[in-house]
Amino acid sequence: MCGIIGIVGTVSVQERLIESLKRLEYRGYDSAGVAGFTKQGVERRRAAGKLKNLEAVLAKDPLRATVGIGHTRWATHGPPTEGNAHPHRAGRVTLVHNGIIENFAELKAALAARGRTFSTDTDTEVVAQLLDQELETKPPLEAFKATLDQLRGAFALVVMIDGEEGMILGARRGPPLVVGYGDGEMFLGSDALGLGPFTNRIAYLEDGDFVAIDHATARIFDDAGHPVERAVQTVAQSATLMEKGNYRHFMEKEIHDQPDACQHTLSAYIDPVSTRFAPPSGLDLSAFDRIQIVACGTASYAGQIARYAFERLAGLPCDVEVASEFRYREPAVGPKTLAVAVSQSGETADTLAALRWCKAQGLTTAALVNVHGSTMAREADLLLPTHAGPEIGVASTKAFTSQVAALTALAATAARQRGRIDAAEEARVARMLLEAPRLIAEANAAEDHIRTLAPELARARDVLYLGRGAMFPLALEGALKLKEISYIHAEGYAAGELKHGPIALIDEATPVIVIAPSDDLFEKTISNMSEVAARGGPIVLITDAEGARHAPEGARVIVGPTCDPLVAPLVYAPPIQLLAYYVAVQKGADVDQPRNLAKSVTVE
Ligand code: M6R
Repeated sequence: MCGIIGIVGTVSVQERLIESLKRLEYRGYDSAGVAGFTKQGVERRRAAGKLKNLEAVLAKDPLRATVGIGHTRWATHGPPTEGNAHPHRAGRVTLVHNGIIENFAELKAALAARGRTFSTDTDTEVVAQLLDQELETKPPLEAFKATLDQLRGAFALVVMIDGEEGMILGARRGPPLVVGYGDGEMFLGSDALGLGPFTNRIAYLEDGDFVAIDHATARIFDDAGHPVERAVQTVAQSATLMEKGNYRHFMEKEIHDQPDACQHTLSAYIDPVSTRFAPPSGLDLSAFDRIQIVACGTASYAGQIARYAFERLAGLPCDVEVASEFRYREPAVGPKTLAVAVSQSGETADTLAALRWCKAQGLTTAALVNVHGSTMAREADLLLPTHAGPEIGVASTKAFTSQVAALTALAATAARQRGRIDAAEEARVARMLLEAPRLIAEANAAEDHIRTLAPELARARDVLYLGRGAMFPLALEGALKLKEISYIHAEGYAAGELKHGPIALIDEATPVIVIAPSDDLFEKTISNMSEVAARGGPIVLITDAEGARHAPEGARVIVGPTCDPLVAPLVYAPPIQLLAYYVAVQKGADVDQPRNLAKSVTVE
């Protein structure tokens, strides 16, 4: 979603705004803009498309200011044109916005009735007009509060007001907004990553807060307008780093980061010396009779994979539902249900709403998140961290495997706490999980071979992914990865479902990717592959050495390490990610910032 930044600085702001917006690019955007207080008054520069277009505008017409705001826009209301790009301006007000103003139409009608005219299709311009109207009768902070009180929806705002050259206002209702503390300078931004080049001293605004920053201070108010303090934290250097090293894309780097990411994550759940599971926050899973996982996209597939472990290993019923459906379904949940929101960002609007719904039902809630200062992390009763480090590629890779690792460790914890496994078995499972990072690294060894398969797959219009057991949700994830970054239509199916419909799609032009390390279901999957082969469907089999011996004639085979089924979803994730990656590269697609996608979906 949109990225926003505000700087009350002492040196030229233009380069700093661009540097920060580059760090926010990963959130997904289709136009960008900046504004600053210059000697001539407030000036704006905006451009449709990528930041390089805005840089070209600035090269011709620099913004000479030290205080300014910037924005990357992910279009919601109105196409991604220069005219709809932020910052938006009305009278004395210039502002940028992330989120949606749900009642913009009625506000617009009321403002229009009072003679205000609009020049964009956006909901954002309504806020600028409304604030400008409030400023006719009120001082800035009062006018800002009065404006916020009239807005419905989930949004974050950063605002400049003519005549208030040393001040920037910000507000948070839903999407995050952080305050950065510098040396004689202050910052506002969508996240700590965006402020990384300037400061790592960060205060996270609470939902409903608004703030006024100047060169030295941040005055923060809660939604009732009372002054409040928000703790200033020094965020880890790693949370502000974003380097791709020698890799061509962040996604490629993040695929290769996975052994480390999983190891760091597992170390929060397993004591490597005693090989005992030691869940964060002292979580006692024997107190629950059911797990309810809520998540979106890739995170929901991580949940679906974990369901197998929770039920098979721990005998603990586990439901997994996409948060966007769960929150509106009025599900029946028992009091001994542990609700687990799984999210890389910890900010996904639907997942956050589902978490809040569970909390309102009186359930114990846990946030299994990668961003530990996120809203979910702060609102849930328990924080279950993943330690993947910042994930910049829009397509989730290391966050996904870290989620699977953490959830599998929790399932094993539940098995032990519920008396389903003894200490010896606990130690065996713990050792197996601790071995997984090495096996993930081994799986990456197939990379060169996978690259050679990409040209053929890149010609396909449709691709099917098949898997059984926990490999089924991995097939769903494989299909999502391919769709997201290569724009090839792909679907994942449970292999046994093939003959109930999807088999009608099989022909010579429809590749079928089968994820099937040799386990006790492998023979059945061989039969499904034969059904595909009999109809001329090209097969790519992702399996281990034993499975490779049974590959149908003509199948392309990607061989991964031999491993226990419990860790197979971790070990077989890199091949499907690499396959999608190299197909996207082959097609010349924008791997790290696929069209229409946002990294963190903070609107419904
Ligand atoms: O930040 P979250 O984990 O809550 O995000 C959930 C989904 O939006 C995310 O996993 C999405 O599906 C990714 N683009 C997948 O690669």
